[in-house]
Amino acid sequence: MSDIVIVTGGAGYIGSHACKALALAGYRPVSYDNLVHGHRWAVRWGPLEVGELTDGARLDAVIAAYRPVAVLHFAAYTAAGESVAEPGKYYANNVYGLLSLLGAMRRAGLNRLVFSSTAAVYGTPRYVPIDERHPQVPINPYGASKMMAERLLADFASAHGIRSVALRYFNAAGADPEGEIGEAHDPETHLIPIVLETAAGLRREVVVFGDDYDTRDGTCIRDYIHVADLADAHVLALRWLADQAGAHAFNLGNGEGFTVREVIEAARRVTGRDIAIRVEGARAGDPAVLVADAGRARAVLGWQPRRQALDTQLIDAWRWLAGRHGMVMQDSGEPAHRRNATRPPAHAIGLTS
Ligand code: UFG
Repeated sequence: MSDIVIVTGGAGYIGSHACKALALAGYRPVSYDNLVHGHRWAVRWGPLEVGELTDGARLDAVIAAYRPVAVLHFAAYTAAGESVAEPGKYYANNVYGLLSLLGAMRRAGLNRLVFSSTAAVYGTPRYVPIDERHPQVPINPYGASKMMAERLLADFASAHGIRSVALRYFNAAGADPEGEIGEAHDPETHLIPIVLETAAGLRREVVVFGDDYDTRDGTCIRDYIHVADLADAHVLALRWLADQAGAHAFNLGNGEGFTVREVIEAARRVTGRDIAIRVEGARAGDPAVLVADAGRARAVLGWQPRRQALDTQLIDAWRWLAGRHGMVMQDSGEPAHRRNATRPPAHAIGLTS
């Protein structure tokens, strides 16, 4: 029988891709999600249990019913900009939610956790690429909430023997290469889906948040990492934790940064579409440059990202977007809408490979 893994946030963007990776690796993922941002349709590789992280009795019941070997914890709020305006929301879900989960794990004697962390714990980089020893001075409540969560993990490892890996993602992008799942935030705040929705004619323009940063073209630099590569790292971390004590952290990124303008230019190339832009002021809480040194994940976990090219990430995200909106994207002209459309073939969505 397959080992069962509870995946909080399994109906979300990265969580659902991790469920697929777990299933392919022989585990049985059980998603635990309140469906505030997650989607029922994204849960395809195991059951969905709807519940709140703060509902200890519900967590106890789900853990008792499935007897998991470990937990992958994705459920969290993730919009750095929003966290500046609504810090309480972020601390409640991201810190207190984890505390509640750790309580349930302790009660059940469950001692293995892989945690979604973020490059936002580092704040404004003092050097790039950023390694795990870089000082942690988050510049928004989102990053601070994840830093606090990591501190909880360290204390629970020391006091209660709960072993954990925190994976600090840089910018998750792309979609399942087989097109089964992908990014679907509402509202969407992330650059790549916004750029592609503009290419598809679903938005008028991309608003570029600031072009007077101290970077090669004045726009922010980010290290985009394919969501399927992120998902693979969770499976590796889960296995690695089987014979490790303590709380550990690894960066996940490709070590190469792209400016906002470069992403838009690459999207124009990949989609063959015009993408209108308008420059506005910088968004609160955005550091100029975030680029990862993920050498430790490669060396220790044996992580090997396979879809590093920005174009690959854009192509997978574009294919997903086309399927989701039921569009046939011709090489020129506006997207034609189809009723009950299935995923269109690559040649119909302006892809060259
Ligand atoms: N951007 C725009 N216009 C938009 C959206 C984004 O110019 O409409 C810019 C942002 O200012 C930023 C870059 O594009 O410079 C990327 O922005 P995203 O919103 O896509 O991603 P963030 O870098 O803000 O944040 C993401 C995750 C966080 C994580 C962080 C770590 O959402 O959870 O990466 O690198 F902490």
